Order: sequence, then structure tokens, then C-alpha cells
Amino acid sequence: MAYQSRPQPHVDANLVRISVLGPALLSVGTACLAFYDAFNLEVIYAYLRITGWGMLACFLCSFGASTIYHFFPSPVTRGLLLNRKYFGLAFAVFITFHFYGLYLKMDYDPVFFFQDLTVPEFVLGVVAIVFTLAMTFTSSAGMQQRIGAGRWAALHTWGGYGILFAFWVTYRDHGLNQLPIFLTINGLIILRCLRRLQELTREDKRRMIHAGLTTMIGLIVCSTGLYIFEQMGNSSGPPVQRDRLYAMRDYYPLREGAAWTYRTQSAGRSGPEQRFVVLPDNPRGRQAVFRVHAGPDTYMSVALDSYGIRIFRNVSPDSIFTYEPAGIFLPNLYLYEEKTFETGMMITGGPGGESRKGLQHGRYRLEKIEDVILGETTYRDCMRIAYSRTIDNGRGFLQTVAGRMWLAPGVGKVRDERSVKVEDTAGALIDIREEQLELVDGGDIRW
Ligand code: HEM
Repeated sequence: MAYQSRPQPHVDANLVRISVLGPALLSVGTACLAFYDAFNLEVIYAYLRITGWGMLACFLCSFGASTIYHFFPSPVTRGLLLNRKYFGLAFAVFITFHFYGLYLKMDYDPVFFFQDLTVPEFVLGVVAIVFTLAMTFTSSAGMQQRIGAGRWAALHTWGGYGILFAFWVTYRDHGLNQLPIFLTINGLIILRCLRRLQELTREDKRRMIHAGLTTMIGLIVCSTGLYIFEQMGNSSGPPVQRDRLYAMRDYYPLREGAAWTYRTQSAGRSGPEQRFVVLPDNPRGRQAVFRVHAGPDTYMSVALDSYGIRIFRNVSPDSIFTYEPAGIFLPNLYLYEEKTFETGMMITGGPGGESRKGLQHGRYRLEKIEDVILGETTYRDCMRIAYSRTIDNGRGFLQTVAGRMWLAPGVGKVRDERSVKVEDTAGALIDIREEQLELVDGGDIRW
């Protein structure tokens, strides 16, 4: 092409060094700063976002360069075009660190990493990394000559489209939150199509129709594929409404001094009032950890993170359950979404006193958003969550707490209807009782 020019070999070598070392130092520096005194899920997410933005900026400057120059020629866009190879290399470095961030996430929480990973995400991730590797290794002039100009152009064009599609899917899932970025990505796609159409109309109208039809068929096939994948994930019940996440940050005010007092019923009879008080626990790095006390020596050690309320320990005078990785006490959920978890735990104390391994299965489904009336008080827009938690205590017994709870925004749990069942591992019922908890009206909650 007329606007391609090759820099002197020593200039090229220096620019390659800068485009590889610059993003690498930036990514390592960010990791050191971010993980210096806190290594938790929040920081890993922030690191993934930062490397993701680096990838996006470099990719747009590299893959979009010729289109941007075509429509907006200027010294700046020409500079972009001449240096697109270096932006491409910088993209390859950032994506490597993005995958390093994913490795950290997997290492921190393998159970939830695999539960979160959807099939389309996995396929796109593999496609993107394979194309990135292939394009990086063929980025030199020597490799271009060796594989031939036609094959080289095909690899770099289709590879670019594959990666562009991965960005498109990432930001499509973010909804309106990052609309400007989503529009930029769509803008680039439209400009590329326009440019191709311009070229084809100049050449041959039949080829233009052919290209138009092929693009339309491609779009229909991709959209149908994505739709089928998404339906497979949510086959039962109404489709999950992904436009708003109901987050525990808003529904479970975990802060020092918070307290809940409940009126209780067991097997249809009123029981004693139950009171929970939140006290501070030792922080994990910068992550604030709290104890939700049900009594002086009975508490859960919990924290808020991107999954919801996580539980580290459940302590009573008889035993201590330590979750590894941190279990989910209450997950963030989309409407109609169901999440299931399996978490290992170490149990110490109890008869015999030795430590043993246990397992907890959890299932949570956000069934509805509805108002709850308790006495004189109406709690608006409560999350109604159907849940079950089964603990295998490693001694041949399974305890299942299953039922429905309602969480009010800014208040926490206002109502809970549940059954507590104890069975042996062969399925023989040992004990079952029904329980109900209702937040006491005008209770002594100090927010
Ligand atoms: C298996 C593959 C992948 C997984 C599991 C994954 C996971 C993640 C996660 C967890 C985040 C943080 C999201 C948040 O804080 O809300 C993130 C951010 C991001 N990822 Fe990936 N990623 C994958 C592959 C990719 C690929 C292939 C691309 C693009 C080529 C990409 C582009 C991005 C971008 C741009 C961000 C920043 C999003 C923002 O603006 O907040 N990711 N990724």
C-alpha cells in the first residue's frame, strides 16, 4: 500500500524493544503496586480491567489504524498507521498479562473460576490467544516473506476480526455501563465495512452484493451461535435478566455496628429472639473482614467482594469450620439467575477433637423482586432468594438448610423461611424442623 514505509533496521529493533518492554514494565509495575499489601479478588479484578484497557487501546491503534487513516487522514493518523506493528506487539504483551491475571484468579479461587467461565468466553479466549501468538510470531518482515504476502494478510485480517469480536462480546456483556467503549468498537466495525464496500463498488457490483450477503450470513450464524450458548446456560425458568446485577453491597450492609434482631418460630411455636451483631475482624490486606456474631463465642467471619458475601470461618464453642477457598454466604445475582457452589472446608473441634475435611454445596436462585410487609413496615424491592446449603461434616452426616430468604435494600435479611434437615450419608432422615425468622419491627438496628 502507498502509505507503508519500513523504518531502518536499528530503529525498528528499538521500537520493537519499546513496544514490548513498555507494556511489560507497566503491567509488572501495576501488579507490584496492586498486590503489594493486598492479594484478593477485588485487586485481581482491577488488574484484569487495567490490562484489558491496555489491550483495547493498543488493539484499536493497531487494527483500526488503516481504517482511521483512510477516513481521517492527518499527520497523527499517519503516525498511527506507520507504527501499527508496534501497537500490535504492545497488545500481545498486554494480553499475556491479562492471561496472567486470569491465572492469578484461578489460583486464588479455582472453584469459582471454573464456575464463572462460560463456554463462549472460553472459546473466544482460546481463539484470541491463538491468533495473537500467530500474528506476533509472523510480525517481522522476514516471516512475512516466508509465509507469503497473501497468507500473511489473511492471517492478520481474520485474526484481527477474531480479536475485535472478543472485545465486542466483552463490552456487549457490560451493558450500558461502558456504552462509549462499546460504541467505539462498533464504530470501528462499521468504518471497516464501509471502506470495504467502497473498494468493492469501485471494482465490481456483483462482488459487493456477494460480500454483503456473506457478512449478513456470518452475522446471523454468530448471533444464533451466541444465542444457543446463552440458552443452554439458562435452560430452566425465565431467561436471566442481565441488565441489572442485584449486589450484596446494596442488600447486605456489612459494617461495624450493624445489628439485626429477629422474631423466631420453630415447628410452628415462637422461639427466643435472635440477635446478630457485626464486629470488625482482622483485615486481609486491604480487604475489610467482619464477624457476624450470633453470640459471644459464635460468629461467622465474612467479607464483601465481587462475588457477594464470602465466608472464611464459622466459629462456635464446639467447632470451627474453615472454608478453603472462601465460601459464598450470599452471592450477587441477576434476576432469575441460579448459582451453585461446592466449597471444601476444614473442621476442627467437636467430639474427638481431631481435624477433618468437610464439603459444602450451596444453591441460590433470585426468584423475584417483591415488597415484604412485616407488621407496620413495608420493605420495598426485596430480593427473594431460594436457597439450600448442604454440609457434609466428614462424619457421615449431612445437614441441609433449605428455604427462601428476603433481603431488603440497605437493611439485610428481613425474613427467612427454612427447613433444617439432618440425614446420614445413606439418606436416612435423622431430624427435620421448620424455622422462620422475621426482622423485628422498629428493631435496634443502628445504621
Ligand atoms: C477465557 C478468557 C477470558 C476471561 C475469563 C476474562 C475475564 C476477565 C475479567 C474477570 C475481567 C474483569 C471484569 C470486571 O472487572 O468486571 C476482564 C476484563 C477485561 N477483559 Fe477479559 N477475559 C478473557 C479474555 C479476554 C479477551 C480474549 C479479551 C479481548 C481480546 C478480553 C478483554 C477484556 C477487557 C477489555 C477487559 C476490561 C473490561 C472493562 O472495561 O472493565 N478478555 N476479563
